[in-house]
Amino acid sequence: MIAKDRINELRAQLHRHNYNYYVLNSPEIADKEFDDLMRELQDLEQEHPEFRDGNSPTVRIGSDLNKNFIQVAHKYPMLSLANTYSEGEVSDFYERVRRALNEDFEICCEMKYDGTSISLTYEDGQLVRAVTRGDGEKGDDVTDNVKTIRTIPMVLHGDNYPSSFEIRGEILMPWEVFEELNREKEAREESLFANPRNAASGTLKLQNSSIVASRKLDAYLYYLLGNNLPCDGHYENLQEAQRWGFKISPLMRKCQTLQEVFDFINHWNLERKNLPVATDGIVLKVNSLKQQKNLGFTAKSPRWAIAYKFQAEQALTRLNKVTFQVGRTGAVTPVANLDPVQLSGTVVKRASLHNADIIKGLDLYIGDMVYVEKGGEIIPKITGVDTSLRFMIGEKVEFIKNCPECGSRLVRFEGEAAYYCPNETACPPQIKGKIEHFISRKAMNIEGLGPETVDSFFRLGHIKNTADLYDLRIEDIKELDRMGDKSAENIINGIEASKQVPFERVLFALGIRFVGETVAKKIARAFSDIEELEKADLETLKSIDEIGEKIAQSILAYFENVTNRNLVEKLKSHGLRLFRSEEETLDTTNKLLGQSILISGVFTHHSRDEYKDIIEKNGGKNVGSISSKTSFILAGENMGPSKLEKAHKLGVRIVNEEEFITLIS
Ligand code: IVH
Repeated sequence: MIAKDRINELRAQLHRHNYNYYVLNSPEIADKEFDDLMRELQDLEQEHPEFRDGNSPTVRIGSDLNKNFIQVAHKYPMLSLANTYSEGEVSDFYERVRRALNEDFEICCEMKYDGTSISLTYEDGQLVRAVTRGDGEKGDDVTDNVKTIRTIPMVLHGDNYPSSFEIRGEILMPWEVFEELNREKEAREESLFANPRNAASGTLKLQNSSIVASRKLDAYLYYLLGNNLPCDGHYENLQEAQRWGFKISPLMRKCQTLQEVFDFINHWNLERKNLPVATDGIVLKVNSLKQQKNLGFTAKSPRWAIAYKFQAEQALTRLNKVTFQVGRTGAVTPVANLDPVQLSGTVVKRASLHNADIIKGLDLYIGDMVYVEKGGEIIPKITGVDTSLRFMIGEKVEFIKNCPECGSRLVRFEGEAAYYCPNETACPPQIKGKIEHFISRKAMNIEGLGPETVDSFFRLGHIKNTADLYDLRIEDIKELDRMGDKSAENIINGIEASKQVPFERVLFALGIRFVGETVAKKIARAFSDIEELEKADLETLKSIDEIGEKIAQSILAYFENVTNRNLVEKLKSHGLRLFRSEEETLDTTNKLLGQSILISGVFTHHSRDEYKDIIEKNGGKNVGSISSKTSFILAGENMGPSKLEKAHKLGVRIVNEEEFITLIS
């Protein structure tokens, strides 16, 4: 057989096996056979680049070519659904539809999948584009990434699909994959994904499609758009779409009465926790497309559909103990230790009790039966206690007065819910936490070092602060268990390389309370070196964008502490970049330092965002509304009359685009 024919044959076979395996869950061949066919196709394609096809099954493997996403306008805007949380509103919706249609109608009930939405365009049976929701009007073209999702067909089966149509749905990361991914991230000390929704959308936006391929995303399609769809029913069209190769939810049901709708809601309200993917409600859609058309849309959502959102899932379990954790900033977090309980797909053993106020409000006793809920965060929280189940009362849960690690008396800052251990420079978890933060990827990014190594160095007395890292000798490192010559050398090289980390990241690495990555960037733009920052007073600090009273006070407090000042001196003497490099300095000035500037109107030379950036790079602060404190308004064409009037009234200067460019050049 000639190569071209074999390639086509293999492609057709692999598309079919892929569909059987991933969509229908009924493979016809063994995995090994599938892999062999795939390898044969890969080899042939490599030998014959002239037969390249963007929708070949081999594309599913992904590639590591970097590319930025192109924005694409949606042919039909991607609207959202009106949400409701109450059964009463579901009845209202049903009633509204009944009155508007004044004829029989069916409601299609389906799961509301909690992932990230996608719009797929097919032409002549081929996937041509996959675009994210974006702002509803336009989204990112993520076609290459989407092609790695095996439940999304690249080439359709059958012959009754329209020559051109869109199909929309939800890209999901199954619970199992999500948990595995977070376990891996934890081992690598990377920040975790809060929920499968964030994990799915984060993955879809990765630049490297081979990583996307490894993340095992899944997709359910739930909305067809286009002319010449085969049937009038939404449900019936989706059944057809399943035959074309799409994965359609098996949990859809057509209901003839409101009672049937409620039965569906009540059933899945309980059963959803057994599903392999996250859901956050039920979507009700008028089934007939003709009737949908009659009902039409409001500005934001269709009148023919509504989403009933589930209450956050709760579990009831026993509180065994409350422990208190001290973080790197000294914040003390109360943690509830629980009898293991199943909640939204995972086993929960620990939950956050937030802070002293919450503990007081809950009036908790050890042994109490408590309600645990998972919100958007990874860590579940205790939301209530069932006092009717309180038989044998244990000790009352109270917030501690002293640090569980170093015994210092805890303090509470004004306006803050958290208690802190003030012993910043000598409380062990704070020191270790600060060092761990210092070496982390987004800070100094010292390869080869992790929390366990830091812990060992700390116990052996080799390091007491971040500067001590730079005094470590290869012999000290080799002293550690299981540390080979090569690893020890890597650590030394990693430490040496960190001396090239730019100013803004060193500032972030210092771990000054409330100085995160963004604030550190702003500081590095406003000050040319650490000495300038050390000398800055409250007003100067507050004049920097994103820096308010709280952050400014924290920076002052940091430099008032002599231990911190000595530490900074030591880091400086080790050669860390505690100053801005020449390139960084080139496009930053202090010309607008201390000035609050409002941008208004339409511009010709730069976009608004560019002006915002220019203001910040020159030390100014971009503000959103006019007040007597506004230094001036950078005004383009068509500035709103009410803003103009307010500016005149407050005597705020108006600077046009040309004047502004002269000012900063
Ligand atoms: S239909 C015109 N069906 O919920 C409305 N949406 O707020 C078309 N979603 O952005 C959407 N499951 O991401 C529809 N079975 C389902 C859904 C669903 C989840 C998401 C979708 C949309 C949001 C609506």
